[in-house]
Amino acid sequence: MKLAVVGKGGAGKTTTAAAVARALARGGASVVALDCDTNPNLGISLGLGEQETERLVSLRESLDDGDAEHAPGWDELVDRFGSDGPDGVRLAVVTALQNPEPGCP
Ligand SMILES: Nc1ncnc2c1ncn2[C@@H]1O[C@H](COP(=O)(O)OP(=O)(O)OP(=O)(O)O)[C@@H](O)[C@H]1O
Ligand SMILES: [Mg+2]
Repeated sequence: MKLAVVGKGGAGKTTTAAAVARALARGGASVVALDCDTNPNLGISLGLGEQETERLVSLRESLDDGDAEHAPGWDELVDRFGSDGPDGVRLAVVTALQNPEPGCP
């Protein structure tokens, strides 16, 4: 099952995505959360903490900086760029916005 949470600014996307992901994981599902937000802070709501959330954002940025190689497939992406939250949701930050125009991306 794949779920995407979208909506206008401040509508509750991050809160909803984290609550659904954590509930599914607590119920025994294997859950991977991908943060595609321009302000990637899903890790906070998933309970990874500020430091680990920032580490995942930095990992993503290291791709754009040329300091890391893209993962060749899904398993390696989740392995190399992911981290587990307290309910077992594995988060990877995959935001990719280069030179965004002013206004809402
Ligand atoms: N069901 C809810 N009831 C009350 N407050 C909520 C609810 N869902 C979210 N909020 C609050 O609304 C605010 C915005 O929520 P959230 O960060 O999840 O929105 P967002 O759509 O991800 O925002 P952004 O566009 O900035 O990423 C937060 O302060 C959050 O605590
Ligand atoms: Mg958000």
